[in-house]
Amino acid sequence: MRIAVFAGDGIGPEVTEQAVRVLEKLGLDSLELVEGDVGGMAYRKHGHPLPPQTLETARSADAILFGAVGDFSCDHLERHLRPEQAILGLRKELGLFANLRPARVFPGLEELTTLREEVAREIDLLIVRELNGDVYFGEKGIRTLPDGRRQGWDMMSYAEDEVRRIAHSGFTAAMGRSKKLCSVDKANVLETSQLWRDVVIEVSKEYPEVELSHMYVDNAAMQLVKNPGQFDVIVTGNLFGDILSDQASMCVGSIGLLASASLAEGTYGLYEPIHGSAPDIAGKGLANPMATILSAAMLLRHSLGLEEQAVRIENAVAGALSAGVKGGDLGGSAGTRQIGDAVVERL
Ligand code: NAD
Ligand code: IPM
Ligand code: MN
Repeated sequence: MRIAVFAGDGIGPEVTEQAVRVLEKLGLDSLELVEGDVGGMAYRKHGHPLPPQTLETARSADAILFGAVGDFSCDHLERHLRPEQAILGLRKELGLFANLRPARVFPGLEELTTLREEVAREIDLLIVRELNGDVYFGEKGIRTLPDGRRQGWDMMSYAEDEVRRIAHSGFTAAMGRSKKLCSVDKANVLETSQLWRDVVIEVSKEYPEVELSHMYVDNAAMQLVKNPGQFDVIVTGNLFGDILSDQASMCVGSIGLLASASLAEGTYGLYEPIHGSAPDIAGKGLANPMATILSAAMLLRHSLGLEEQAVRIENAVAGALSAGVKGGDLGGSAGTRQIGDAVVERL
């Protein structure tokens, strides 16, 4: 079992290092870890944020553990050379269309949230975010209009097959949980969303046991703060899922806690925290590695079928939090390494 480890930029290497320690601590003989360059550091080394050899390493692996990419000193580059293209390119090239972003309050740790505890207590939701389409991958540009004004434009679209396959992911996830699926769109304004909604309703006929609801994204943002406990599985497009998942992280307590799996058909997947390279705290040993450690747990579960080890990691993280091991993002003072130690010693 080969895992590609792409640490990337900013806090990426710091948090990935701790997740790798956790994997190594499990003592799985059959695990081989192979590193690769992505993001701004890859651009500086190889002239491209996703060099061909990295893509090859990804393809030869059973799963990818990803840190983060993003480096403000690269923001002047042409878009195709920017660090973010590494993660976008991997998602697209490897057909990783289904992004699972679970958000669950750790039992007994309701005080971590910025919401009122009684509001946060019920949070146990899963955002199923489409990852290969939407305004992210449409044509785009900045052009000059005939009257001389500059205009930025990005084409938003979803083809029906793209909606259908993520709808199936949403319904399948709902079948494995409490059989409630909320599809989030903006069908009152966007044609892309109207088609999205029509197709989700068509697919729902194949899942008569699942209770399907629809919500506009602006209301969903509000409801996530008002009453997050009402949600179980949310299925949504690429852009709305990006925004709502950062918001869901704060309902739980911190963006440093939320893990994700980006899946293709089958067991192959990329696993990463939902946060970015956090340039404001990079290199200081302050980043919370728990989201990356929990992503490694998702990797073991989804790609390698190692449910027992995944649960061990999740329990160790919950145990460390319960014992008061908290990073600055949670109002605590534990550093990256210290948090890694606390998880490792509980395995
Ligand atoms: P960010 O997620 O990097 O940081 C947002 C805020 O959260 C910052 O204040 C940061 O310090 C804090 N934070 C994030 N992760 C943390 C952690 N583990 N522990 C403690 N605090 C944490 O988002 P941003 O600042 O908007 O973006 C920074 C860069 O990261 C940009 O270049 C962006 O494009 C990139 N980015 C990459 C990914 C990815 O690699 N998948 C995801 C999001 C953003
Ligand atoms: C994420 C990030 C990425 C996204 C960026 C870095 C391209 O915000 O993984 O959530 O928008 O998908
Ligand atoms: Mn994001």
